Order: sequence, then structure tokens, then C-alpha cells
Amino acid sequence: MTSVQEQYDAFPYPERDPEEERTRLITGSPSHPVEIDHFLFAGKRDWSQPFRALVAGGGTGDALIQMAQVLTTARKPYEITYLDLSASAREVAEARAKVRGLKDIRFETGSLMNAAQYGPFDYIDCCGVLHHLPHPQEGFNALAGALKPGGGIGLMVYAPYGRSGVYPLQEAFATLLQGEPKDRLKAARAILDRLPEGHPFKRNEGLVDHEQGDAGFYDLLLHSQDRPYTIRELHETLGAAGLAVTGSPHAYAYDPKPYLPDAGLLYGLDDLARMEVAEKLRGTIKTHVLYAAPSGQSEGRVAAPAPGLVPHFKGGNAARMAQAIARKGVLPLNLNGEKAEIPVSGAVVSLLRHVDGKTTLAEIAAAERLDPVGFAALWNGFSKDLARYGLLYYSSILR
Ligand SMILES: C[S@@+](CC[C@H](N)C(=O)[O-])C[C@H]1O[C@@H](n2cnc3c(N)ncnc32)[C@H](O)[C@@H]1O
Repeated sequence: MTSVQEQYDAFPYPERDPEEERTRLITGSPSHPVEIDHFLFAGKRDWSQPFRALVAGGGTGDALIQMAQVLTTARKPYEITYLDLSASAREVAEARAKVRGLKDIRFETGSLMNAAQYGPFDYIDCCGVLHHLPHPQEGFNALAGALKPGGGIGLMVYAPYGRSGVYPLQEAFATLLQGEPKDRLKAARAILDRLPEGHPFKRNEGLVDHEQGDAGFYDLLLHSQDRPYTIRELHETLGAAGLAVTGSPHAYAYDPKPYLPDAGLLYGLDDLARMEVAEKLRGTIKTHVLYAAPSGQSEGRVAAPAPGLVPHFKGGNAARMAQAIARKGVLPLNLNGEKAEIPVSGAVVSLLRHVDGKTTLAEIAAAERLDPVGFAALWNGFSKDLARYGLLYYSSILR
């Protein structure tokens, strides 16, 4: 059996070519600074103050590069510590940072179990790592212990139902295949080719990592340590670490109402029970992406519309969004193949052209000659609808 460190040394994850940094920036959740501000600092972080962040299990550097590049472009001070067990993953991350000329990054090879010794931090990114630890709860505890007061965490862990078919194969391959990672990979590919088309793994259209190179295949099907979390288990594990969820860019996915003929069926269920039901009914959630803060400090951490806040659209393309809405009177969404529509009133469309990541809501209202009450009546519902899908955030990082 390969250890976690041997695996990631043999197959640094995800596979990245540092030269591609010259032509594109990979962005995503968690850990875009605008999203961090929205979910942990109420959209009001003072970015003139240095941002001290840890990327725990940074792999080949996606979150590190995203954070460092966005903050560098915005000319905001930061110090980011990259920490990973794998020296070869670190080499790739370092090479990517070098191609971009990014400064103020500290590269460390070591375990996130020792996170506190590098901190404390305003923010910790931990994406796709905690579910690979031998004792995950200790990892959650270690990260919680490395936060500054008022800080927070952005994380991603695997979820069970959307990964249906993965775990029986991981177990079978672990029983059958010993030896070097490259030999295990070759044999596993040969076995997968021979499996019946009806196997739940082959039926699961949401699983694509194995088609994206050797590192992706190994990570998905040959991992030696991999446990998924239901949303309830995740909340409980966070709670045991003294953390509480502030919000998720995928909040819509945890709402069971679209599947129910009668919303009254939810009567008596608390928020977490509703989310748990949604996860089971939806059946396709592969990962949970969320932000968390120390329990007792988690209220009021997510931005809500207020005159001084600066709205951003994810992807930044207000013009395209406005065009789509103007054509149909709805914002059409494609969420990994699932279609949805957000109804939008015509009066909101003219507000969208002002959303440039720099203009506050008060300035947008003034430009449209709307008083605060009239503006809020138009904007707040729209804002809430988009925020559920992770499409609208608040941050003054570009001011
Ligand atoms: C699936 S990769 C994710 C990489 C990166 N966070 C991302 O999302 O692209 C998991 C990474 O966690 C690292 N890792 C696993 N256990 C760790 C630990 N205890 N401390 C630090 N890094 C660890 C692995 O070496 C690997 O690079």
C-alpha cells in the first residue's frame, strides 16, 4: 500500500504545468479573496491590513496561486504560507509562483497537524485534504488552533452520494494491487476497462477526475486514505473542533424545496436536517465547499447588502449577465449540467452595468437616482437569489 505522501510525491495533485501560468489563472472555490471576504469578513475586510493566510495541503498550488495573484494584482499586502507533505507537489507550486513573479509566499514541507507553529492566520485554505488524514478530526482541530481571533477557514471535503461507485473500487484495488504507484495505476486502468457498463462508477456521470491524467485517476480510485462526509457529519466534525459553518457558495444545493410537492413536508425539521434531506434527495453532491469560523464568532460573518458594500459578480461579467436577463427576463444557470433559472425584474437589469467590483451599492443607487428604500426593494432579493448560487459577493478589495 502506498502512503499518502508517497502517492503525492509520485503524482503531485492536481497535474499542473507551470508554463501555463503565462496564459491563464485558475480560479475557484474556496479561497478567491473576494469570496473569502464575503463569507468570513461580511464583505468589509480592510485589505490595507496584511492578510496572513495558510494553504494547508497546498498540493501543486491552485489556491496559493489564486490568492497570491489576486492580492498582488489588487496591490494588497499579504503573507501566504504554503504547507504540504509532498516535496514534489511543492516544487510545482514554487515553479508556478516563480513564473508569475509572486512574492511574499513562504514554502514549507510538513504536516498541517503542526499548522499552529506557522501561525496564527487570518485565513486557512484546506481544499481536498482533511478527508485524506488518518485521523481527520485531529486535522480539523489543528487548523482551528492556528486561527487568529476573528479568522476563518475555507474548506472542501468529499461527500458520499455524488461519489457513488468510487469506494467499492478503492477497496477492491487496495486488496488486489500492491507495489509501486505506477504499477498499481497501470493495473487499475486495465481492470476498470473490463468492468461492466452497469457498474455504479461507470454510471456516475459526475465523476471525471480519472479521465484527467494519472494524478486524477490515482487520487480518485487508488487513494489509501479517503473518507467522505455527509453534511451532518461535516457539521458535527467542525463543531467538535470548535468551528461553525458561516456559509457556502453552493447554498442552493442544500435546499430540498425544489424536490418537494409540498414544502409543509419540512415542518419540524431544523436547518441541518433540511440540508441532510437535500443532500440525499439531490444525490449528486460530490464535495462540500464551505467557510467556517470559531463557534461563537460565526454569526454576522457573511455579507448582506448594505450601502457601503461593493458587489462583484462571479466571473465578473455583468454585461453578459444583463444581456441574458434582458433577452429572457430570467438568468439562466447551468450548474454542472443541471439547469436552473432565476427570475429577474426588468428594473434590476439597468443596475447591473454599474457592478464593476469597485462601485458601492450607495453609488449604484445614486447613479440610478434611486432612494435607499427603492434601491433595496429592487436589489436585495436579486442579491440573495444570486448569492445562493455563489454568483454574487461583496468585497472592497478593488477600492
Ligand atoms: C488532493 S491534494 C489537494 C491539493 C490542493 N489543496 C488542491 O485542492 O488542489 C491533497 C494534498 O494534501 C497533502 N497532504 C495530505 N496530508 C497532509 C498533511 N497531513 N499535511 C499537509 N499536507 C497533506 C498531499 O500531499 C496533497 O498534496
